[in-house]
Amino acid sequence: MKGWLICAAKTRTGGNKMDPFGRQIDYLRISVTDRCNERCLYCMPEGYKGWESNPDHLTAEEIIRVARVAAGLGFRKFRLTGGEPLVRGDLPDIARAMAKIPGVESVGLSTNGLRLAALAQPLRAAGLRTVNVSLDALDPQIYRRITGGDVAKVLAGIQAAIVAEFERVKLNCVLMRGVNETELWPLVLFAAEHGLPLRFIELMPLTSTEVLTEKNFLPCGEAMQSLAQRDELVPQPDRKLGHGPAKYYLLKQTGALVGFIGALTNEHFCEQCNKMRLTADGKVRPCLGNHIEVDLRAALRHGADDGALKELLETALRLKPLEHQFRTNYQPCRPMTAIGG
Ligand code: 5AD
Ligand code: SF4
Repeated sequence: MKGWLICAAKTRTGGNKMDPFGRQIDYLRISVTDRCNERCLYCMPEGYKGWESNPDHLTAEEIIRVARVAAGLGFRKFRLTGGEPLVRGDLPDIARAMAKIPGVESVGLSTNGLRLAALAQPLRAAGLRTVNVSLDALDPQIYRRITGGDVAKVLAGIQAAIVAEFERVKLNCVLMRGVNETELWPLVLFAAEHGLPLRFIELMPLTSTEVLTEKNFLPCGEAMQSLAQRDELVPQPDRKLGHGPAKYYLLKQTGALVGFIGALTNEHFCEQCNKMRLTADGKVRPCLGNHIEVDLRAALRHGADDGALKELLETALRLKPLEHQFRTNYQPCRPMTAIGG
């Protein structure tokens, strides 16, 4: 986006919010916990101890209240994430209440899938519409090496989500050279077999500094080249699945629909940004790759009225940076698990 687009955050008709760079921001990703039952290499630094204690997390009521105020401001799409959102017992209640808020068009879930087999049906019944499941490998050993978890449980979860008839079930795979490079093609075949869109995501510097190195960074371009040796990638420039930044391709022979999220190599990545995040401890984070945060929890717990909360959300919107700082020596002060994927 060009500098001349800079103007004060303003309201479009219909209440849709623009940030200072003219981007319409109507998507809020809500982290409901920083706890997780996996330990992904790229998300949680080894031995991470800085977990929020329970009272630090927003309560279900607080989350729902923020969602209601955000919807009043023009936010339309919401996603529950973590940490692992399914470790929170009241997640179906949160989902049910959020789905009923006037103005909320869709509530989705991002999960590692470990507990999805049991929860898919109740969550669908509660009004959740879409699910994204992390699946970095199909090979059980490689999966365990990356996440510490059991891929069989995740596959059962994915199956349950299909049976529960979510409007969309997408798969996410973080690209890591020397770790899951050999899994890309098997994942494509799996996605094609089950008719599920698959997204490959470039590794972002979100944990400790040693995780993202030149050695283990695998750019989307290289993953595409590797897939192109087996199938033809037909660009789908008009394909928009959900609210994320993926660029989609149809693989001609297999029929797989594969998206690429080139957060680091795509220089135009941030131009289409449409979201902000709410961390598990109640901070609004305008950008994943920038340390700016606005504290909502303090306001929530000191009697702020809805108008004051709305102003804080608008402040966060005004502070939304033009782009992330991942390419300029970004130091992750908080790991992904605490921010919300
Ligand atoms: N880089 C890229 N993607 C990440 N995710 C978590 N941490 C990172 C990271 N460091 C992704 C997970 C999950 C989604 C919510 O965020 O794959 O699917
Ligand atoms: Fe847990 Fe998801 Fe982070 Fe993996 S990426 S440690 S599953 S929160």
